[in-house]
Amino acid sequence: MTHHLEDTQQHDMDPYPWASKRHKAERHEVFADWLVAKVPSDVLDRGVLDVAGGQGALSYYLTKKHNVRCAIVETKFRRGGKSTKFLTNVKRYSNLTDEALDQCGIVVAMHPDEATEMSIDAANAKFFAVVPCCVFHCLFPDRRMPAGSEKVGQEVVSYNDFMEYLMLSKGDSSGRPVSLSYLNVQGRNRVLHNF
Ligand SMILES: C[S@@+](CC[C@H](N)C(=O)[O-])C[C@H]1O[C@@H](n2cnc3c(N)ncnc32)[C@H](O)[C@@H]1O
Repeated sequence: MTHHLEDTQQHDMDPYPWASKRHKAERHEVFADWLVAKVPSDVLDRGVLDVAGGQGALSYYLTKKHNVRCAIVETKFRRGGKSTKFLTNVKRYSNLTDEALDQCGIVVAMHPDEATEMSIDAANAKFFAVVPCCVFHCLFPDRRMPAGSEKVGQEVVSYNDFMEYLMLSKGDSSGRPVSLSYLNVQGRNRVLHNF
């Protein structure tokens, strides 16, 4: 496994010192707590669509700890994990369809791999909060750094490129900019959101 230098360094604007951060295995609970603290309650009341939800750990904390209704989009549902047996009432979709989007007021995604940009684009005029992880440069060779970047026109290769690309290019049609926040957790902890 490749460890990128930027993973092991504290990002300039990250307010949480490394020593105080929770272990990355706790990222789902940290993100669930963050969402409940930051997202307007009327938006949460319309439901959360957890894209690339894996074994459902984020939805587990949202439903069981915070009583927020969730649906999950995941291409490879796997059994196992403590979440699976608690999520019998959570709708599951294998694709990010309009029907899945109708279930929610906000699209969220934690480390969604190649579904990162897709989940932001699908949110469109809805709210989103996404914690990017991997870039998958080889799958998206046509991505270019947008206007406003010092690297305008260059390929989107690194994690930092990808974050800048998303921040500069994903403001929605209603003019809401993309904001950056940090989770108090180790590993890739930057949240991009439009509220
Ligand atoms: C790194 S895992 C993260 C899983 C979970 N969100 C977590 O943080 O534990 C990435 C997940 O994205 C899922 N995924 C990748 N492409 C997807 C797509 N187009 N639609 C839905 N899920 C996708 C994969 O199957 C995998 O479970």
